[in-house]
Amino acid sequence: MQRAGEAGARALRAALHEGRAAQGGSRRTKAAVAAASAQVQPNEAVIAHWDKYAKLSRSEGAATHPLVNRRHRPQMAPSEVAFRPIDNVTGRMSSKHLKEEWTEGEIREAVQNNVMMTWGPNAPRLTIPNIVRGEGVHVYDDKGKEYIDMTSSAVCTNFGYSLPESVKQAMVKQMETLPYLYPGLGMTDVRARLCNLLAEVTPGDINGFLFPLGGAEANEGAIRIARNYTGRAKIMSAYRSYHGATSRTLAATGDFRTRFVESQNIVKMFNPQPHLWSTGKTDEETTKLMLQMLEEQMINEGPSTIAAVILESIVGANGVLVQPVGYMEGVRALCDKYGVLLICDEVMSGFWRTGPLFAFSHFRGVVPDILTSAKGLTGAFMPLSMIGVRQKIMDHFETSPLGWGSTYTNHPVTLAGAYELLRVNLQAGMEEKVAKVEAVMLDGVQGLIERHACVGQGRVIGAFGCLDLVGRDGKQLQELGAPMTAESLMVKKTMMERGLFGLFRSPLLHITPPLVISEPELKEMFSRLDDVLTELDRAIGAQ
Ligand SMILES: Cc1ncc(COP(=O)(O)O)c(C=O)c1O
Repeated sequence: MQRAGEAGARALRAALHEGRAAQGGSRRTKAAVAAASAQVQPNEAVIAHWDKYAKLSRSEGAATHPLVNRRHRPQMAPSEVAFRPIDNVTGRMSSKHLKEEWTEGEIREAVQNNVMMTWGPNAPRLTIPNIVRGEGVHVYDDKGKEYIDMTSSAVCTNFGYSLPESVKQAMVKQMETLPYLYPGLGMTDVRARLCNLLAEVTPGDINGFLFPLGGAEANEGAIRIARNYTGRAKIMSAYRSYHGATSRTLAATGDFRTRFVESQNIVKMFNPQPHLWSTGKTDEETTKLMLQMLEEQMINEGPSTIAAVILESIVGANGVLVQPVGYMEGVRALCDKYGVLLICDEVMSGFWRTGPLFAFSHFRGVVPDILTSAKGLTGAFMPLSMIGVRQKIMDHFETSPLGWGSTYTNHPVTLAGAYELLRVNLQAGMEEKVAKVEAVMLDGVQGLIERHACVGQGRVIGAFGCLDLVGRDGKQLQELGAPMTAESLMVKKTMMERGLFGLFRSPLLHITPPLVISEPELKEMFSRLDDVLTELDRAIGAQ
């Protein structure tokens, strides 16, 4: 062993020497070292060599020469980031929460101290009315004042504030039997039934459905589905549109709100009704030119990079912009030509708002690949939205993962309410009902345009109407999204005084009452609006 060991050590030293000589080592030299090492256990000489190295390489310096090979050890400065712990113990519920009713003062104090506003600054939280009750098309504040809901709140309380008894019962029954189920873990009867009913009544082969909670979430899902289905990234969306407040849907939005987010691979196209310019002498010519412009844009972007075009079938929050004839048909054709999906966002315009169940039925033979809706699906009685996809997309995801979902998607209680409400509305003939509302709306808006200098233009389709307010010079009363001018604030205040409740984003004055409004109520609403606009005429010096 000893002899073999010595021979091995010699071989190792030789191999080490050879390796050094070879400066990096050839394959033969490395092999020689390996062979030599494998044969032997290290002998004393080798161990002594390694020990010598260990004595040389020490943090505190070589054993014999402590100033040599010493490793740098920085002085650790004492931390200068002071930490001041604060109380993070769970608070205690105060006795006022055990009371059935609160005083006005207690409510005001809670609003002042604890309530955050959406979109704008927090400051106005004490100046908006405190609404305590809703019935039919009316809401009532804490002083007992009655208002007609002129805009169905955010164009969502489409069936007023009186929840049909059968809808309430359907939800209670679901709450008592199965209040919740995670959508990936099990199926529910109500999910199957609502999907099936929607497939029956939705035009075309839009046969697959899923149900997020809000409109933005539905559009998020639609965009994800389009990207996953096509394997392409870009989404085209229009100026003068609104698609939601999440990052991607707000990036797809084409109005002042899009400035709150950064771009998300969204390519903006012009809406056929731009605000500061126009093109084409006739609607047909406008449509043709806008479509040529869109095709040029698609070609230059690279059609194989575009997953989908997302459009509101009838633009809502940006002023009820009724598409020129042939435009949506042309967009559909371009999408087909380039393998791009068409997403119709009917969050606002769906569920009879414009007359038919879905607004895309207005366009000859147009069926979107993906349809989103919300608001009217439940009339805002509960939060729910929907994504519907055509058969080819449903088939694609039979074996490919959808890659999208959330805890409350397909919530059985909200689905139970939506299912019953849809059955009630289909049986009640909502389309015919809205046709009657439209007739009164057309007369009402025509009258307001004729009588008031402050009304530049107005649009109506179904129960979806909007006025463009203007100053004495005929130019818009103010820029959309800019802080309210004195005249706009006056309109807002007068609306409340005259008992008109609703959204007012000057210079757009939406007229989108609940679809269930009666003719006398509609006439009363227009009469109150007449008064408000008379005040504005006076304010702009037109009377
Ligand atoms: C056309 C359209 N899409 C999407 C949304 C976003 O819906 P939500 O506010 O439920 O997220 C809206 C809301 O008004 C809308 O009008």
